[in-house]
Amino acid sequence: MTPPLIGVDVGTSGVKAIAISPDGEILATADESYPLSTPHPGFAEQDPEDWWRAAESCLARLPEGPIGLSGQMHGLVTLGGDEQVLRPAILWNDQRTTAECAEIEARVGLDRLIELTGNRALTGFTAPKLLWLRNHEPETWGRIRHILLPKDYVRLRLTGEHAIDAADASGTLLFDVAGRRWSQEVCDALEIPAEWLPPAYESTAIAGAGDQAAAALGIGITAPGPVSVVLGTSGVVFAVLPEYAPDAKARVHVFCHAVPGTWHAMGVMLSAAGSAAWLRHALAADLATLDGEAAGWEPGAEGLLFAPYLAGERTPHADANARGAFTGLSVRHDRGALWRAMLEGVAYGLRDSLELLRTLGVQPEVGRVSGGGARSELWLRIVSAVLGLPLERTVSEEGSAFGAALLAGVRSGVFADADDAVARCVRVRDRIEPDPGWVAAYDHGYDRYRTLYPALLPLEEHP
Ligand SMILES: Nc1ncnc2c1ncn2[C@@H]1O[C@H](COP(=O)(O)OP(=O)(O)OP(=O)(O)O)[C@@H](O)[C@H]1O
Ligand SMILES: [Mg+2]
Repeated sequence: MTPPLIGVDVGTSGVKAIAISPDGEILATADESYPLSTPHPGFAEQDPEDWWRAAESCLARLPEGPIGLSGQMHGLVTLGGDEQVLRPAILWNDQRTTAECAEIEARVGLDRLIELTGNRALTGFTAPKLLWLRNHEPETWGRIRHILLPKDYVRLRLTGEHAIDAADASGTLLFDVAGRRWSQEVCDALEIPAEWLPPAYESTAIAGAGDQAAAALGIGITAPGPVSVVLGTSGVVFAVLPEYAPDAKARVHVFCHAVPGTWHAMGVMLSAAGSAAWLRHALAADLATLDGEAAGWEPGAEGLLFAPYLAGERTPHADANARGAFTGLSVRHDRGALWRAMLEGVAYGLRDSLELLRTLGVQPEVGRVSGGGARSELWLRIVSAVLGLPLERTVSEEGSAFGAALLAGVRSGVFADADDAVARCVRVRDRIEPDPGWVAAYDHGYDRYRTLYPALLPLEEHP
């Protein structure tokens, strides 16, 4: 009998693990959370030991089988010669590297950087974090012998192997995304020793992928067609491209996909379900109550608008200093109105990414959703109307862990390839159609939303 396939997703809030049968039936799940440390404003760090402990504990609760790994992208794990962790990992949502991003674009040249890596230097990416260490913690820098991304550190502990996949390597800014190998030219220009980097493989060969590529695979997105819409802590709109084609201004990311020989473009907002988590905490109420109260308000919540830039923003503004706001408040607005405006503001942020993907020729007719926020029916109805797309949900909500399990199946020969894995395991559960009345209201709302960021800009300089 074929053993179950195991997927382990090393997320920001915790590890989520899943065991599936070779026809995609979910046999068991396990999760384990860990803390996020913010030692200074804008900093975000985690202890790699916490990831390992959580992964070990989840695996102990699942049946045995081939393991695939996915995880939060961009995080920097530094190891010394003895493979000991040198300092806490610096995460994807850390915003300390604005100066280093400028340094990278100056050293490589912006056009050349986009040509080589498909991307511009963004604060969350891995290479700027390395430069920050060189500039601010030279003692640590001097001891580095290996670097890894978060889920690849878990692989090291699990198997002793140093490795990365092309999908996750794409988010380091040290990867030749077109050639699907490390970029010697970028490493040279930044004076980063290439021997620190782990060998890079296709996702199917190593059973690993960055969480966005894994999530897309886990909901069946292997080729141009439906877009992946993720309502996780961060929010993502993701499309497979017919060929490697970076945006000339790199307003969206272009990365290797987890399917060999394919690429994808995506826009990333930093606070999607993260905005929901924040507001729920601030309002001290449960999600069902808040959704229920928000459903009592008409689309647009009588002019109340929310800017979801609680942790700065990536797409479309690439601005670590952007901050959130509610505008248009009146005495009539209550808790439900605040919640509705938050759900809508995040949906508008996703639309910003979708509009940029459209400029690259992406013409989706349907989206597939995953992530914690996809559990909210109201949020899905709002996102569907704001994007003007039907949204499909698949059997597994944990897209990334499910995708990692599919990769384990390809690597171990249970499936012929990624398409075979999807054909045998991924099934659509339900579909939300955009409400025509809401679409009209939200087209107007989106026009207003787009004026918000420029209007808020002058406020950013305040202490
Ligand atoms: N019904 C809901 N409505 C709104 N938000 C929700 C709902 N259910 C869960 N969430 C939010 O979803 C988020 C968790 O989603 P998910 O697990 O996809 O995040 P994630 O980004 O994958 O986490 P990690 O960073 O650990 O990978 C939390 O912020 C939680 O508040
Ligand atoms: Mg996740």
